[in-house]
Amino acid sequence: MPSGHGTRVLDVRGALDSPAVQAALAEAAAVLRAGGLVAFPTETVYGLGADATNAAAVAGIFAAKQRPFSDPLIVHIANSEALSTCAQQIPETAWLLAERFWPGPLTLIVPRGDAIPTQVTAGGATVGVRVPAHPVARALLRLAGVPVAAPSANRFMHTSPTTAAHVLDDLDGRIDCVLDGGPCAVGVESTVLDLLAQPPRILRPGGVTLEALRALLPTLQGPSAEHDVATAVLADGGAEPTGAPLAAPGQFERHYAPHTRLLVYDAQGTAALTALRSAAQEALSRGARVGALLTTEDAAALADLPLSVAPLGTSADVAGLARAIYAALRALDEQSLDLLLAHTVSDAGLGLALNDRLRRAAGGVFQRADEAEG
Ligand code: TXA
Ligand code: MG
Repeated sequence: MPSGHGTRVLDVRGALDSPAVQAALAEAAAVLRAGGLVAFPTETVYGLGADATNAAAVAGIFAAKQRPFSDPLIVHIANSEALSTCAQQIPETAWLLAERFWPGPLTLIVPRGDAIPTQVTAGGATVGVRVPAHPVARALLRLAGVPVAAPSANRFMHTSPTTAAHVLDDLDGRIDCVLDGGPCAVGVESTVLDLLAQPPRILRPGGVTLEALRALLPTLQGPSAEHDVATAVLADGGAEPTGAPLAAPGQFERHYAPHTRLLVYDAQGTAALTALRSAAQEALSRGARVGALLTTEDAAALADLPLSVAPLGTSADVAGLARAIYAALRALDEQSLDLLLAHTVSDAGLGLALNDRLRRAAGGVFQRADEAEG
């Protein structure tokens, strides 16, 4: 993949132990140790990494993403044992969860250890930590030998990247290199679990499901149903760490968003199809160009309408829908359409994370299926 603006693209799609991949990993690890910025694949989305123990390197992440310092970063480690190097007073439940779900898409919020500068945690006393499952991410972390702070490798509030090309679309020339490991397998971010809340609480639904977590932690609270976090915090976007992290960091209601207006109808089955059809017809009658995120079944049912369709796969495979969602949003966004349409899925399993991302991509609100959009 060519890049004209100074970001090196290193292909790591071959066998992990091949000389070419090993050389790419060694180069990227050296960039990290030297305080540079490396985008790398994880099983969820691509991350934008920097040495988490190097405050200046971490500041570079915020600059590249144009992310406010008030939004803390997740620290990635090579294995569970490294948790003690980033955290202190680690609750017993953290070890139980780590044993069951790491490596994997679960981020644990625990008390911050002294090795992690407050730039990583938005000035807060807690830190989010996870062991990613992607073999490239794990090899990179082992070679770098430091914990790696990494948010998703997109411009702040934009759709998360699930390929190296997505990373370059947002950050080419702003970061040192990207490891191209092909498309991400999960496709939505990790579940963020606050272990310091009593009882523990999901702050962001993600790749590890609520059901799977409750099997181990029956009292676990689901994500808050109130979507009341002020987007006003964005006003202090470039501020230095103030010692006052966001009440619910990163949970901006507008997030993961395409540039094109997106309406998401909170309905499934026939009700969803009826709502999408009437919204599409209304917009088309005004001369608008309309795109839709559709399952194979939806696309067949709406095939008579002149829609630009981003296919998400069969509705029976929610993991497939999650894997496809961000690439589909980006693909539709590139077509200069006037309106994008989608609908929710059942909240079961990965559906909870998928619906969360759809809602935020739509600016924090769902449309009711029984109301025509005006
Ligand atoms: O799957 C993922 O989690 C990806 C890959 C790269 O690992 N990373 C990711 O990072 O999604 P980011 O920065 O885009 O989202 C991290 C989320 C944000 O909502 C942030 O506010 C929250 O985790 N978070 C991080 N540290 C936190 C803390 N100490 N307390 C509460 N929330 C925290
Ligand atoms: Mg993100």
